[in-house]
Amino acid sequence: MLKINIDNISNFVNSDELNSWKGKVTDANNKIYNKSGKGNDFLGWVDLPSRISEDEIKKIEDCAALFAEQSDIIVVIGIGGSYLGARAVIDALSNNFNTLLTAQERKNPLILYAGNSIGEDYHAELLEVLDKKDYSLIVVSKSGTTTEPAIAFRILKSALEKKYGSDNAKKRIAAVTDKSKGALKNLADNEGYKTFVIPDDVGGRYSVLTPVGLLPISASGFDIRKLISGAKQMQDYTKAQPFDENPSDLYAAARNALYHKGKTIEILSSFTPSMQYFGEWWKQLFGESEGKGGKGIYPASVNLTTDLHSMGQFIQEGTRNIFETVIRVEKPQKNLVVPVDSENLDELNFIAGKRLSEINKMAELGVLLAHVDGDVPNIYTEIPSINEENLGQLIYFFEKACAVSGYLLGVNPFDQPGVEAYKKNMFALLNKPGYEKESEEIRKKLE
Ligand code: PA5
Repeated sequence: MLKINIDNISNFVNSDELNSWKGKVTDANNKIYNKSGKGNDFLGWVDLPSRISEDEIKKIEDCAALFAEQSDIIVVIGIGGSYLGARAVIDALSNNFNTLLTAQERKNPLILYAGNSIGEDYHAELLEVLDKKDYSLIVVSKSGTTTEPAIAFRILKSALEKKYGSDNAKKRIAAVTDKSKGALKNLADNEGYKTFVIPDDVGGRYSVLTPVGLLPISASGFDIRKLISGAKQMQDYTKAQPFDENPSDLYAAARNALYHKGKTIEILSSFTPSMQYFGEWWKQLFGESEGKGGKGIYPASVNLTTDLHSMGQFIQEGTRNIFETVIRVEKPQKNLVVPVDSENLDELNFIAGKRLSEINKMAELGVLLAHVDGDVPNIYTEIPSINEENLGQLIYFFEKACAVSGYLLGVNPFDQPGVEAYKKNMFALLNKPGYEKESEEIRKKLE
C-alpha cells in the first residue's frame, strides 16, 4: 500500500499545528461524502473505481483490442484532463525507449498525442509519420468544443479518410465525450463512430479512471482492471482511515499548514524518469483545482537527479517559499550494476558492484536532507514499484487529497473559470461568429 511520511515538515509545522487542521479535514471529507460543498455536482470520481461496470470495462477492452490489432500507432487527441492522465500512466508503465522499439518488440501499438497544442510543425510532422503507418484515432473532449483537439481531429480525420476511405476510416475512430451534447457528440452520432461517455459528474482532471484514460491505457497493452483495483483499494482506505493514518488527509493538511507558513510553491519530484508525465498530470490536478480567487499553492515538478543540475540551485538557496513532495518508487523493474574497472581512471570503483537503484536512493536521501537543511520541507509518498495497481493507488490518493486540500483552502476544487479568459480573447481575435462585440473590443485594445 502507498505510504506517506511527513516527518520532514516537523521543523516548519509541529504536530500540534498539524493536528489543528483535523477538524477542518473532517469538514472537508463531509463535504465530499455528503456532496454538500462547492462544486458538488462534480464528485462522480469519488466512487468511480467501485462504480465502473464489467460491461463498460469489457466495451473499453474490446475497442482497445480492435484498435491495437489494426494499428501500428494510435493517436490520442485531447488536451488537459483529456490526455494527461492517460499519458502519465502509459509513460510510467512503458519502456523508456518505446518509440525506438520495433512493433514486434513493443507488442502493442505506439500511442502518440495530438491536439494538446496548435503547433503547426508538430501536427504536420505527425501526419508525415502517420502516412507510412496503420493508425487509429481516439478523440477525447468532454465539452466536445475545445478548439485545440477539434482542429487536430479535423486534420487527422481528413488524412485518415484519404488513406482508408470514409467507411473504413469510421472503424478506426473512437470518440470519448459527453453523453448527449457538444459538437464532438453530434459528429460521432452523425458518422457512427464508436463512442464512450465521460460521466457528467466527473471533471476533466479527475477523468483518468473513465474511458478518457482507460481506453488509451488499455490500447497500449496495460491492464486497466489492475489500475481500477488499485484505485479502489485507495478509495476504501482513504474513506476508512482516521486522520493520523489517512494519507490523503495528512497530505492535504500538511500542504495547507505549509502554505500558511509562506510555502506557496510545491514541487513534485521523482527520481524515476518514467514518472515525468505523472508530474504533468499532478500539476494540472492541483493547479486547476486550487489556483483561483487569488489563492493556491503553485504546483511545479522536477525530475531528479536530472534537474538538480538546472533547478537544484534555486531549490536549495533561492526564495524560501518552496516545499517538496517526493514520489518514491521502492524497487525498479530491472537490475543494472556499476562495473568494476581495473584502471579506475574515473575513480568510481568505490561504487563498483552497486545497483544504480542503490546509488539513486543515496542521492535521494542526500537531496532530501540538503533540502530540509535549506528550509525546503519535504513530504514523502512511496509506492513499492511502478505497476498498474500502484499507479491506481497513487492516482486516487492525489485526487482525494486535492479535493480535501481545495476545501481546506476555501475554494471550489472542481471548477476552472480562469481557463475561459484566453479562449474568449482567441475567439475574438479569430472573428468566431458570436464574438463580434468581443472582437471589436479586443481590436480597440490592440490599436
Ligand atoms: O480539467 C479540465 O476540466 C480541463 O483541463 C479539460 O480537461 C480541458 O480543458 C479539455 O476539455 P475538454 O475535455 O472539454 O476538451
